[in-house]
Amino acid sequence: MIDIHTHILPSIDDGAQDLKESIKLLQTLAKQGVTEVIATPHVIKGTYDNTRTTIDEQLNLLKNAIIDNNIEMKIYPGAELYLDTDTVENVKANNLTLASSRYVLVESSFQKFPNNFEGILFHLQQEGYEPIIAHAERFHDFNTNFNYLVTLLNRGFYVQVNCGSLFGEIGEGVSKFALKLLEQGCIHFLASDLHGLKKRPLVMDKTYNFISENFSEELAELLMVENPSNIINNKPIKSMISDVYWEKEEDASFLSKVKKMFS
Ligand SMILES: [Fe+2]
Repeated sequence: MIDIHTHILPSIDDGAQDLKESIKLLQTLAKQGVTEVIATPHVIKGTYDNTRTTIDEQLNLLKNAIIDNNIEMKIYPGAELYLDTDTVENVKANNLTLASSRYVLVESSFQKFPNNFEGILFHLQQEGYEPIIAHAERFHDFNTNFNYLVTLLNRGFYVQVNCGSLFGEIGEGVSKFALKLLEQGCIHFLASDLHGLKKRPLVMDKTYNFISENFSEELAELLMVENPSNIINNKPIKSMISDVYWEKEEDASFLSKVKKMFS
């Protein structure tokens, strides 16, 4: 498996606090069957002002520790961008994409999206970047307005969901919504969003098995291996939207348009 959303770099955000913790997290991921990770520290203006330099410094530190500790793991640079008016310029200036691809991982306020939320996403697209919305299941504005999320999917944005959300890590409401997104084929990636040994349990293997048993192994592969690999190789992302999933939705006329777009 490939984990595309991790706060694995030491002492750079609210993720791993030191190198020792980063190593233990990587060892746990390796045991669960993860072979590659993208390091995605927060980039939040005024809170975590990470740059190309700060990310590369900690990445190189961790790469050396991976060799020293004989861990079978590839690690790539990335960032989780809190959408702001200067996000586009920041991405361009600091090359804050995932694994040097055209894909960028973005987040926003859980409670309410800012007025310019879509504007910044479109601006990123105009500049040739492809935004992936991190932990989409956690945003109140999507949970209360499913069609808004579908509209964004229709416009070419991608969706990542946290593995732990499927198992109630954030509460029942988020869990139900994460499952709905899965059933409706609205997810492109499942990732850990790991923040530390004590913050949330790592459930990559549990998630892969859950998807394989309740949906299909093909879907588990797509969301946790194939699409993540497409990011690293800068290739197109595949969607799981299909007749089977979309027929469950009530607003068939609207969704049939979306389906057509993905066919
Ligand atoms: Fe994150």
